[in-house]
Amino acid sequence: MAKMWAGVTSGQTSKLADDFNSSLHFDWRMYRQDIQGSIAHAEMLSECGIISEVECEQILGGLHSILNDLDRGTLTFDRPCEDIHMFVEEVLTERIGEPGKKLHTARSRNDQVALDLRMYLRSEANEIRKLTKEVIRALVSQAETGKNYIMPGYTHLQRAQPILFGHHLLAYAMMLLRDEERIADASRRMNFSPIGSCALAGTTYPTDRRMEAAALGFDGICMNSIDGVSDRDFCLELMSAFSIEMMHLSRLSEELILWSSLEFRFVRIDDAFTTGSSIMPQKKNSDMAELVRGKTGRVYGDLMALLTALKGLPLAYNKDMQEDKEAVFDAVDTVKMCLQIMAPMLKTMKPMPENMKKAAQQGFINATDLADYLTRKGVPFRTAYKLSGNIVADCMEKGLVLETYSLEQYRAHSDQFNEDVYDAVNLENCVSRRISEGGTGPASVEAQIAFVKEKI
Ligand code: ARG
Repeated sequence: MAKMWAGVTSGQTSKLADDFNSSLHFDWRMYRQDIQGSIAHAEMLSECGIISEVECEQILGGLHSILNDLDRGTLTFDRPCEDIHMFVEEVLTERIGEPGKKLHTARSRNDQVALDLRMYLRSEANEIRKLTKEVIRALVSQAETGKNYIMPGYTHLQRAQPILFGHHLLAYAMMLLRDEERIADASRRMNFSPIGSCALAGTTYPTDRRMEAAALGFDGICMNSIDGVSDRDFCLELMSAFSIEMMHLSRLSEELILWSSLEFRFVRIDDAFTTGSSIMPQKKNSDMAELVRGKTGRVYGDLMALLTALKGLPLAYNKDMQEDKEAVFDAVDTVKMCLQIMAPMLKTMKPMPENMKKAAQQGFINATDLADYLTRKGVPFRTAYKLSGNIVADCMEKGLVLETYSLEQYRAHSDQFNEDVYDAVNLENCVSRRISEGGTGPASVEAQIAFVKEKI
C-alpha cells in the first residue's frame, strides 16, 4: 500500500518491512493522549490563523467522534497503519475529508510522539503514586496492629536485638515514601511540552507553543526543539524510580516469604494470596510475593533496554527510539500490578506475635542486658560478661531462656542476682529502653506512625 509519506520514494514497502516498522500494536494505548494533543493543536492552529475556524470545527468534530468510537470499541485498531498517529490521521481524513489533511500542519510525528508519551506517563505516574500510597497505608495499619509485638531484629540474618514488628514494617513505609517522592519529582521535570518542536528545528508557521502547552496541562515548553524530540530521559528517570521501588518491594516480598515459612511462622499470608502444590498437600506457597520479587528483574531489564537503545544515538530523532515504548509500558504495567497485589496482601496478612516473641527469646538477644545488670550491681564488666556467657550456655543445655531460668539457678552463678533480674532481661523492657529518636522504643514507633500518616 502506498504510504502517506510517499514522495521521493514510491512508498511501496514490503509487507515484512511494514510489520517490522509498525508500532500500532503497542502505541495504540496512547490514543487518548494522541487525540487530546491533536485537539489542542487544531485549536492553536486556528487561534493563530493558520487554519480557519470552520476547518478547526470540522477537525474537532472528527477527533471527538474517533475518541468516542475508540472508547466504545466500535472503532478498532485493525488497520495496517504505521503507528497511532497515522491511524488517527487516516481515520480523521476518511471522516471529514480535506480539513483532516491540515491537522498535521506545524508538527511532526517526532514531537507528537514525544508529547503523547509525556502525557501518557504523566497519568500513569500519578496512578503509581496513588497505588504506592495504598501500600504505605497497608504497612502503617499493620504497624499499628503490631506496634507492641516483639520480634528479633536481624543482621546477617542472625538474630541481633529485639525490635517491634511495627518498627520493622515502618522501615518499608519510609522507603516507599521516598519512592513516591522520586516519582513525583521525575513527573515535575517531565511536565514540559515538546509539541511545536516539529521534526527537529521548529517551524516557519506563527505557532503559539505556550498556548498549546497550557491547554494540555504542561508547566511550560521544552526550550530547545532538538532536545524536545530527542531525549527520553523522562522515561529513564521514571524507570529508575520504578526500579528502586521494585527493589524495595522485592526485599519486602523476600521477608514475607521467609516469615511465612515454617522456619519462622511470623506471619500468615491470607489464602487469597497463596497457592498450593499440585503434588504436596501440605504446601502453602507465597507465589504472589515470589512473583513480585521475580518481576523486579523485569523492570530492571526494561530500564537497561532503554538506556542501551539510547546510548550512542546521534541527535535528533532516530527510529531506534520507537523501542522506548514497549520497555516503559512494561515497566508501568509491572509496577502497577505489583503494587495492586501488595496492598491487599499486606492488609490481610495475620501476624503471629507468639512466634515472633519465641524467636526473640530463643536468640539470647538480651544477654547484653544481663551482663549490664550485674555491672550495675558492682560486678566488674569482664566478670559479668563471663558469668552471663556461662548462664547462656547452661540455658542452652537445659532448653531454657534467660526469662525462664530460675532465681536459684541464677544465684548458683552469683549471689548478686535478685528477683529484679527478670526486669532486666524482660524483652519488653529491653525494647522500651531504646529511647533514641527513630529507634525501636514504643514512643518512637508511635511517632513514626504519626509521621507517615501525616505524609500520606
Ligand atoms: N512510531 C514512531 C515512534 O514511536 C513515531 C515517530 C515516527 N517518526 C518518524 N520520523 N518516523 O517513535
